[in-house]
Amino acid sequence: MTDDITRRRFIQTAAAGSVVLTGLSAGRAPKVFASEANKPALLGGTPAHQGGWPKWPQWNESWEPEIVEVLRSGRWCGYGGGGKVGDFETAYAQLLGAKRCVTTSSGTNALFTALHVMGVDAGDEVIVSPFTFIATYNTVLMHKALPVFADTDPATLTMAPASIESRITERTRAIVPVHIYGIPCDMDPINAIAKKHNLAVIEDACQAWLAEYMGRKCGTLGDMGCFSFQNSKHIPVGDGGAITGNSEELMDRCQAFHNVGRATGTFKGSGCFSRGTNCRMNQYQAAMLLPQIDKLVKETKRRQENGDYLTAGLKEIPGVEPVRLPENSRAVWHLYPFRYDAAQFNGLPREKFLAALRAEGIPASGGYHEQYYDGLLDEAINSRGFQRLFSAQRLKAYRDSFEELKGNKQVCETTVGVFNTLLLADRSDMDHILEAVRKIQSHSAALVA
Ligand SMILES: Cc1ncc(COP(=O)(O)O)c(C=O)c1O
Repeated sequence: MTDDITRRRFIQTAAAGSVVLTGLSAGRAPKVFASEANKPALLGGTPAHQGGWPKWPQWNESWEPEIVEVLRSGRWCGYGGGGKVGDFETAYAQLLGAKRCVTTSSGTNALFTALHVMGVDAGDEVIVSPFTFIATYNTVLMHKALPVFADTDPATLTMAPASIESRITERTRAIVPVHIYGIPCDMDPINAIAKKHNLAVIEDACQAWLAEYMGRKCGTLGDMGCFSFQNSKHIPVGDGGAITGNSEELMDRCQAFHNVGRATGTFKGSGCFSRGTNCRMNQYQAAMLLPQIDKLVKETKRRQENGDYLTAGLKEIPGVEPVRLPENSRAVWHLYPFRYDAAQFNGLPREKFLAALRAEGIPASGGYHEQYYDGLLDEAINSRGFQRLFSAQRLKAYRDSFEELKGNKQVCETTVGVFNTLLLADRSDMDHILEAVRKIQSHSAALVA
């Protein structure tokens, strides 16, 4: 690959498949007079950014021969390991410093597989982070287990370790911390609690490729790490996923479960087949992922440099608070988030702040909402299966416990996230993001009116 950062050169863009694209394509035409330059765009001023952010996903023509090679080989299936799938698994494990990697058809299926392998079964409970993509909860429910929410730390946006222990019951089997937006969770206290209560730790690292905690990569800090390669992700292939881990035995079990339960390596199961599913990655997916490893490394560095720059700049603006990272850790910014304090913007509601930011040419969104009130969990706890597996008293207490998630509620109401592809742009573009926030801050009274 040549220079994968400079969007004007080799990058081709696709118009389908990614939520991210909606905002990115919304370049705004500044049609105002120079004297209005400092006014917010929403009040008729010139937008801070003139459009043309990097789009996503990106690809390079040099990848095509590898994909055509798979096409012409007729060996498309990932069955049996080896081929490009095996090459990618080796390379991805090496990249992360994990002993093994098993690829899957999605991040959802990586989580589904890891939960099974760690022994999560019907009637169990799993402590999960509530501030996440819905698949984190849903995979627990698909095992007929209850996703019990730890609270979110408003300063870090990740699972608050202090909120875990009070939620552990005799049915708890595992903890699923989520490195949301590529922000490493504070894993040492989480692992210590897991050890004390003999629980498995499955990291949802679906947004955290190459994020680091205490010098080690996310996805290698618990029993297993799960990754997504979906279209919007930093290493995308449409749909795809991976599980990483250091235990040969557990990884053999993952290999078996994702391959229809076939006995594999040290895992003999019940003889030939054990319980399992088919969620293998295909060879042509691996052919697309292999050349993206170097790209991911380079782009992660770029995102981190620009992220650091934004953090330093935002710290100087009243009413916006960058995320606090655990000591000795590096985030990779799948979204670059900060907390918004409307009180310091003359009461400007977050939605209006977001509208003002978008008008400045900065695509941004509000992040996750309190999804546990959306109906998914009610559907589960009202189902025949869950009512057989859990007492009415437990299900009621579970439903009532959502009210205790005060930190998460605050996070859902106050987070603002700048789309990740913006962090692939130039330093001067980061100045436009900061300028936009400053402009909105200094004109917030007028924007409220
Ligand atoms: C935190 C998190 N967990 C799980 C998933 C599920 O991954 P996939 O979409 O590849 O199934 C995603 C993907 O968006 C995610 O962001």
